[in-house]
Amino acid sequence: MHLLSLLISFPCALSLNILMYVNVAGKSHLQFAEKLIALLNERGHNVDVVLGMLNSYVSLKGTYGARQLVTVNFPGESPWGQVAYHLNNPFVEIPDWQRLSMESNKFIDTNQLLCDLLLDSTAVADLMSSNKYDIALMSGYDFCPFALAHHHKISPVVSYVPTPIYYYTQSYYAGLPELPLYENVVFDVRHTSDRSSFVTRVYETLRTFKERLLHYNDLIIINSKLRARFGDSFPDVREIAMNTSLDFTNSHPLLEEPRPTSLRLKYIGGIGLPTPKPLKKELDNMLNLAAKGNVIFSFGTQIGPEKITPELQRVFVNTFKRFPEYNFLWKFDGKTVMNASNVFNLDWMPQTDLLYDDRVHAFISHFGLNSFTETACAGVPAVAIPLFGDQHHNARRAVALGAAVMVRKTEITEANLYEALAKVLRDERYRKRAKEIASMISALPDTPQRIFLEGIEFAAKFNNLPFHYRLAGAKHNFFVQLGWDVAAFLTVVVFLVVVVAMRLSFFVLNRIRAKFQVKSKKE
Ligand SMILES: *[C@@H]1O[C@H](CO)[C@@H](O)[C@H](O)[C@H]1NC(C)=O
Ligand SMILES: *[C@@H]1O[C@H](CO)[C@@H](O)[C@H](O)[C@H]1NC(C)=O
Repeated sequence: MHLLSLLISFPCALSLNILMYVNVAGKSHLQFAEKLIALLNERGHNVDVVLGMLNSYVSLKGTYGARQLVTVNFPGESPWGQVAYHLNNPFVEIPDWQRLSMESNKFIDTNQLLCDLLLDSTAVADLMSSNKYDIALMSGYDFCPFALAHHHKISPVVSYVPTPIYYYTQSYYAGLPELPLYENVVFDVRHTSDRSSFVTRVYETLRTFKERLLHYNDLIIINSKLRARFGDSFPDVREIAMNTSLDFTNSHPLLEEPRPTSLRLKYIGGIGLPTPKPLKKELDNMLNLAAKGNVIFSFGTQIGPEKITPELQRVFVNTFKRFPEYNFLWKFDGKTVMNASNVFNLDWMPQTDLLYDDRVHAFISHFGLNSFTETACAGVPAVAIPLFGDQHHNARRAVALGAAVMVRKTEITEANLYEALAKVLRDERYRKRAKEIASMISALPDTPQRIFLEGIEFAAKFNNLPFHYRLAGAKHNFFVQLGWDVAAFLTVVVFLVVVVAMRLSFFVLNRIRAKFQVKSKKE
């Protein structure tokens, strides 16, 4: 009796078998996935993982917490490493017109090639056809994993990205309207200070339209690949993507730009961040050397020291010299061409632990999403020097929140850098604002861990979430979503009414004039 009531009050935790696909576009993508797997494991779920090695420079070790791990590699080097303009020329700005050109997107192209490898892999097929999965957790950068899940009858499917919302499989198929006031494509955005200006909205509309066209082209290619393998009755991947239950994004609800959203979209920003640990003795001592405080400086994991030219190194060191009361800890794996007594090069930096230390007063960063969220959680004001990807978008948000100053990557001069640093170090408002945001984040009632875990469990239990959450916009194209078809129709109607009205009034006027002329002749 006693035992029975115990069993009833503590029902066995439901243990899910989860199939996860990770698109390894970079090291941070893998680290994010590892964190998600750890959380799922802690909760008692089993996760089998397929790693799609889009970026062959990422070295793998261990199993990342997976019960079974299958890795799909390019036979040689992935084309992504050679073509990735952003990695090879991080300090060169893509011209605005180039973002609008119909030149094919290398990220999409490489994903198409990776899709062939995934479809060819017997290890992937064996794993996915084992008929044991309760849910699939798929990286949302391309359609291939969704199509594979459909083929192997794994349902439901939820998507995730370690970046802000990805338009391709997330916003399009959740049915979110692509309004020009918001950045629909958050990658490599145009540099502008006023996003609501007419010119920017025209640009955003053209950019969105262009991305849609590239996307339709990709759809055609992927659909034909899939039908060649699985037969002509294989559904349109569009239909499959619409049936995704939830879309997790790494945006933080208090930091991301407010935008129209969907219940399908879940913000889990901050979920992947490590917990701060005490500093090692040597670093701890180093922080005490500064008269006033310390500034930490890092361009992240993807930019090697060879990418920072000697001229740039001089600009940084010369500027730092002008703040002798501060010490600068620069994550720079090597020796800079110039040195100063208040600049320390570190090959590696425990960024989290340092940000949470009160002796660190500012952060100079490229503003990758993790760095943005981390500095916001730690309450440290920042100088943002965004380089590529979602970094401009993130930096713009931090500036809008009042906790950062941006220096454009093509305008890194002593004067600009000095001004930015002077602001975040000497103007109390930045520090105050950063602290305010950090305390809001820690007081937020819902945690990303809970949103993620309970979201997955709920989706696994109720297969028909898409039916409840999907917006009607998912089924319609860009023109219908924005009401352009209606606007075009109404424009034609107004035009016709005006033309008819003008004709009619000319006709009537002529008749009247004619009558008067006849009258006057008679008289
Ligand atoms: C999508 O879901 C609906 C409703 O559950 C179902 O009828 C349809 O067959 C699904 N489509 C695909 C391609 O799985
Ligand atoms: C850095 O400073 C030391 C003296 O403190 C000097 O010996 C060394 O040559 C300097 N290195 C460079 C690269 O300027």
